[in-house]
Amino acid sequence: MSHPHGSFLGIFLLLIWSGAVKGEFYSSVDSMQDLAQVEQELINATRSYLEAQQNQLNFYRRYMEQIKREHEWAVGQLKLDEYLGHPLHAFRLIKRLVLDWDELIFETIIENKPREDFRSFVDALTKDLGYPDQSELQGAIKGLARLQRVYNLTTSDLADGVINGYHYDSELQWRESYEIGVQLFDLGEYKRSLEWLQVAFVLLRNSPLEKDENGYLSDIREYAAMANFELGNPERADRLLKQILTPEPIHSAQQTRKYLESRVTGKNVEEKNPSWFANYTRLCQGRRLPEKGSGNPLKCYLDGKRHAYFTLAPLQVEPVHLDPDINVYHGMLNSKQILSIFVEVDKEEMVRSAVAGEGGKRTVRDLRVSQQTWLNYTAPVMQSISRIVQFVSGFDMAGAESMQVANYGVGGQYEPHPDYFEVNLPKEFEGDRISTSMFYLSNVEQGGYTVFTKLNLFLPPVKGALVMWHNLHRSLDVDVRTFHAGCPVIVGSKRIGNIWMHSGFQEFRRPCNLTSDSYKSVAYRN
Ligand SMILES: *[C@@H]1O[C@H](CO)[C@@H](O)[C@H](O)[C@H]1NC(C)=O
Ligand SMILES: *[C@@H]1O[C@H](CO)[C@@H](O)[C@H](O)[C@H]1NC(C)=O
Ligand SMILES: *[C@@H]1O[C@H](CO)[C@@H](O)[C@H](O)[C@H]1NC(C)=O
Ligand SMILES: *[C@@H]1O[C@H](CO)[C@@H](O)[C@H](O)[C@H]1NC(C)=O
Ligand SMILES: *[C@@H]1O[C@H](CO)[C@@H](O)[C@H](O)[C@H]1NC(C)=O
Repeated sequence: MSHPHGSFLGIFLLLIWSGAVKGEFYSSVDSMQDLAQVEQELINATRSYLEAQQNQLNFYRRYMEQIKREHEWAVGQLKLDEYLGHPLHAFRLIKRLVLDWDELIFETIIENKPREDFRSFVDALTKDLGYPDQSELQGAIKGLARLQRVYNLTTSDLADGVINGYHYDSELQWRESYEIGVQLFDLGEYKRSLEWLQVAFVLLRNSPLEKDENGYLSDIREYAAMANFELGNPERADRLLKQILTPEPIHSAQQTRKYLESRVTGKNVEEKNPSWFANYTRLCQGRRLPEKGSGNPLKCYLDGKRHAYFTLAPLQVEPVHLDPDINVYHGMLNSKQILSIFVEVDKEEMVRSAVAGEGGKRTVRDLRVSQQTWLNYTAPVMQSISRIVQFVSGFDMAGAESMQVANYGVGGQYEPHPDYFEVNLPKEFEGDRISTSMFYLSNVEQGGYTVFTKLNLFLPPVKGALVMWHNLHRSLDVDVRTFHAGCPVIVGSKRIGNIWMHSGFQEFRRPCNLTSDSYKSVAYRN
């Protein structure tokens, strides 16, 4: 069975749909940009290669014409033996064969310098610069499957470039759908695989341009047969194989049939989701459970009294949850400050890749691990951030970790987790992470909500806003209700900055209480 693994397709998918890679929870639009650069270099190199080849062909053509003219002239002018009887003519013929043809054929045509150049370029690209491989294509496809699962996106909509009713100009070709189906099959995701194969089948069959000379419809049917078999539908599998074998009895599907006959059929197992999954997907989709006695009791308010810093520009507080208290403070950072943060992030990346890359080369793989960067509070913009966190929370920044800046690409997510450590506390800090301050540094076109899976709460990212909550009770016991998650980004790029505060320095800021319950009033309003 033909099994195309077009590298073009691989890059295409990574660029358009980047997903989590090799089991990482998120990927980064920044590393995708590096891949786009790699592709641009490939395009340039291929174009130069084709031009060089074309020039060479033109040169051969002219050269050929010249030799042909001389040959024709020779045989046309005189009888050939008379012509060759002339010592100069004999010399010229021998010279052409020994020198000219030799140069033409044995040096330029056979050596083909443009091709050698191109080959060494491709070698360098794949070896030194970092180039996506099969596992990364699988990662991208897993990312797509995850988007479908979390957001309940149908395969046919996605293939049409339709996401939640928005139409993006990026519908997939049959070959791409087929490739996704094959990869999902290899990943054991038979149900999804079958959906993508069906889309590929319909697209190919209805394509006015493709004539299916290579029998891809049969290949699709063969994969669909195997997926059906794994899903516990041996009859359907058999029917599909018959459709291939009736017109074409010597097709490789014959072996597939024998193989399946030798096996016990698969089971139609529904994948088992973890217990948090239902809450997670519901909230990621922006749906809350109706709450008893609701009629939203939480009102936004302005707070100019928390600290003198906010006298002129009062805090715009949106309390989104009580007990545990979770507040969103809007408009904390303006675009200029956010740009300054990214200037600091860029500096860090330069420092790091000079250390990690060989010979100062930036590699795609390196960037993947540097999707998060830590910034301390020395740069002016970071000093402002430090002041904001201190004045809003009332905590002493001596207990603060550096700010972690993270970039989530399409499909990038972070499954539910608490921010506290509970065990194995890091030695550099005193106490556990008492609070989280999360700055949204970008808007996200679609997806990327922050959700609290135990609290029926979702927060869409709003650029410039700060979300703050406590991870510990007043007793300093961990508050398990603070489990939260970053939903997959569907479209766009999500950037956040997290500051975790440790409890060690905060004795006078948030007195401990022996009762574990959190205190009803907003703790950090001193
Ligand atoms: C590719 O070529 C274009 C113009 O031919 C040039 O502007 C661009 O910088 C090149 N890109 C790379 C990555 O070499
Ligand atoms: C997913 O969407 C389909 C319609 O496209 C709907 O019938 C189904 O109930 C949805 N499932 C969930 C879990 O939302
Ligand atoms: C803060 O970070 C910068 C850049 O990484 C570094 O040069 C500097 O030494 C750091 N300062 C402190 C106090 O850690
Ligand atoms: C799901 O959310 C409800 C309330 O929104 C909560 O009571 C329940 O514990 C949550 N389930 C899990 C597994 O987090
Ligand atoms: C401890 O918490 C209880 C109830 O939550 C409250 O009545 C009491 O005043 C608190 N004590 C201190 C020292 O904060």
